[in-house]
Amino acid sequence: MRAKILIVDDDRDILLGLENRIAWMGHEPVTADNGKDGLRLIEQGDFDLVLLDLELPGLSGLEVLERVRGASHSDRQTNRDISPSFGTPLIIILTAFGTIERAVQAMQLGAFNFLTKPFSADHLTVVLNKALSTIALHRQVNVLRQEIDDRHDHLIGVNAEMAAQLTIAKQAAPSNVTVLLLGETGTGKEVVARAIHRWSPRHSKPFVAVNCAALPEQLLENELFGHEKGSFTGAVKREPGKIEMAEDGTMLLDEIGDMPLPLQSRLLRVLQDQTFYRVGGTQPIHTNVRFIAATNKNLRRAIQQGTFREDLYYRLAVISLTLPPLRERIDDIPALAQHLIDRAVGIVIQRPCTLSDPALQALQQYRWPGNIRELDNVLTRALILCAGDSIEPAHLYLADSPFPSSTETETASEPRLYHESMEAHSRKVIEEALRRNGWNQTRASEELGLQRTYLTKLLRQKDISGKQPSSTGSEEDAP
Ligand SMILES: Nc1ncnc2c1ncn2[C@@H]1O[C@H](COP(=O)(O)OP(=O)(O)OP(=O)(O)O)[C@@H](O)[C@H]1O
Ligand SMILES: [Mg+2]
Repeated sequence: MRAKILIVDDDRDILLGLENRIAWMGHEPVTADNGKDGLRLIEQGDFDLVLLDLELPGLSGLEVLERVRGASHSDRQTNRDISPSFGTPLIIILTAFGTIERAVQAMQLGAFNFLTKPFSADHLTVVLNKALSTIALHRQVNVLRQEIDDRHDHLIGVNAEMAAQLTIAKQAAPSNVTVLLLGETGTGKEVVARAIHRWSPRHSKPFVAVNCAALPEQLLENELFGHEKGSFTGAVKREPGKIEMAEDGTMLLDEIGDMPLPLQSRLLRVLQDQTFYRVGGTQPIHTNVRFIAATNKNLRRAIQQGTFREDLYYRLAVISLTLPPLRERIDDIPALAQHLIDRAVGIVIQRPCTLSDPALQALQQYRWPGNIRELDNVLTRALILCAGDSIEPAHLYLADSPFPSSTETETASEPRLYHESMEAHSRKVIEEALRRNGWNQTRASEELGLQRTYLTKLLRQKDISGKQPSSTGSEEDAP
């Protein structure tokens, strides 16, 4: 990369030498021979890196550093985060031989590195390249962060129910209370969790999401709490967990309903005491993290079934928000569709494209079992498949909803009477056995542990066809 580098030194020879060397390395040097000019240039310019002499007339190098990094004496004492942030240049201190303790002081104030004068050209090159690769890394992280933010920072919610939930989210954001986000898959739980973080005083600190359904128990434990060196085979060094990475920020415990019970107890302790132990650790670690949990599971039912701790539920659900499914917020579909198309144009296709009125109507009539994520997929596919500049209904390929949505399944099964649900369940068991055995009734009856004749009787009783749907009727032992 070609970097813009400011050199601040009152020694003209050093200034000239460094300027030539940096230009020779292919970078853009700018010079200042006193602290005041240096500070002004830093404030005005977009430098990647500053080489800053400590001994300067007027404003000293340390004072310049202090103002640039905004680090006060008290910060040093409390050892607050003074790592370089994006937007301010990295600073390399130039210090005379024998003033090492001042260089240390400068490092404590947030300088990236130091060079003791006189230094060789090779030493300069090594230190510069190290700084430049750090800058490149920062940029990469920022591009990636921006990409994630672009996916999650846009929050559409004019629908009355959604707007009401967002109002509560905004009220809860400034405090540290735990928020539980409920809603079907793809309804925007992560989007809302990130918004709560953005609206909170923690917004400049990390937002870390952990998917509790993605990992088996031990890996998830390690992911959350980290481990000490030697705590298990392969633990060759100490690794912090995600909770430590989210320090001072917000942690989203996604799919919390799938967290194994032993980890639920450990999490409860973190929420109660704000302390935890790394795997294999003996020292408690104090933590300052705001927790948000999300799930599409029915946690009350999970409590009844013994798969979710009731005490954890009440700890998490200090404020509980339920995001409405997309089919209940069709008034949001025009804005959501427009946003999703805008987001995809330029990435998926390189030409403008609009949504026709009939296509919008079709979107508003569909039932959206996969909610906004499904809407996103449908529109992305339509953008790819439509050759022109307008998405028509034919490009949407909206089938009749093949699956009932998660709440439909739940609410449909909830009010069922005992005999009704047993009947439905036994039909399902028989049909699945038939399907698994290629509609061969002899094999299905063996698998079910039933007499072949009894299965035939059940099929008649329950009016199950026993033949493969739309098959040619060639099943060899069909009745
Ligand atoms: N209110 C919104 N405004 C704009 N885009 C949204 C909104 N809600 C969700 N989206 C988009 O819909 C997609 C799914 O959202 P998100 O990942 O937050 O859903 P989720 O509820 O966490 O889903 P899951 O339960 O499957 O984890 C994302 O691409 C997101 O950008
Ligand atoms: Mg999610």
